[in-house]
Amino acid sequence: ARPPGLVITVDGPAASGKGTIASRLGAAYGLPVLDTGLLYRAVGVRLARAGGDLGDEAAAAAVARALTAADLDDPEFRTRGAGEAASRVAVHPSVRSALLELQQAFARQPGGAVLDGRDMGTVIAPWAPAKLYVTAGPEVRAERRRRQLAGQGEAVAFDEVLADIRRRDARDGGREAAPMRPAEDAVLLDTSEMTIDEAADAARRIVEAARARL
Ligand code: DC
Repeated sequence: ARPPGLVITVDGPAASGKGTIASRLGAAYGLPVLDTGLLYRAVGVRLARAGGDLGDEAAAAAVARALTAADLDDPEFRTRGAGEAASRVAVHPSVRSALLELQQAFARQPGGAVLDGRDMGTVIAPWAPAKLYVTAGPEVRAERRRRQLAGQGEAVAFDEVLADIRRRDARDGGREAAPMRPAEDAVLLDTSEMTIDEAADAARRIVEAARARL
């Protein structure tokens, strides 16, 4: 059954703007926000730090099972390498199932919640009343990500970031377990030609329309 609060799912590919949109929606509605990419980033980084192999499903699942919400605050999770490591451990079904309960408990908070990721609307909270799928062209996303990395002191050439983005889209969308895709009832929001404020306003209008149907 659907819990009583307002639950908003925000899915989409890397650097589409979904993280910013999720935090703006959280602020607008006074809802807690979970960036679920951080869970996968934390698993990838912790496994790599321990000298493990990202392709070792059992080792990755053990790291995932030990993870708590308190472990997510680490600047290294925001790096380029962490994004790639996250995408690689995210293909393992037992990693995804180890992280399921934490995400679903967050979604079922009585007051509601905002969750951003790849499979929020399809797997974690398919019953959510408001679902967005945020996209933007690969070049636009690559330039946004390049600028963000540069701002963190990680200078990477545009072409390399674009190659990262394309590889990640293919892996996240092509995997067997919970592939990245819009839920049937998600509203698509293409932010390619939008400023952050325009995208946040458009997202807010989509949520308002969903609330009106409740
Ligand atoms: O949203 P992000 O770029 O921080 O996510 C990093 C990677 O984690 C992404 O490439 C795929 C994986 N991921 C996932 O499989 N499912 C989610 N709900 C969130 C992220």
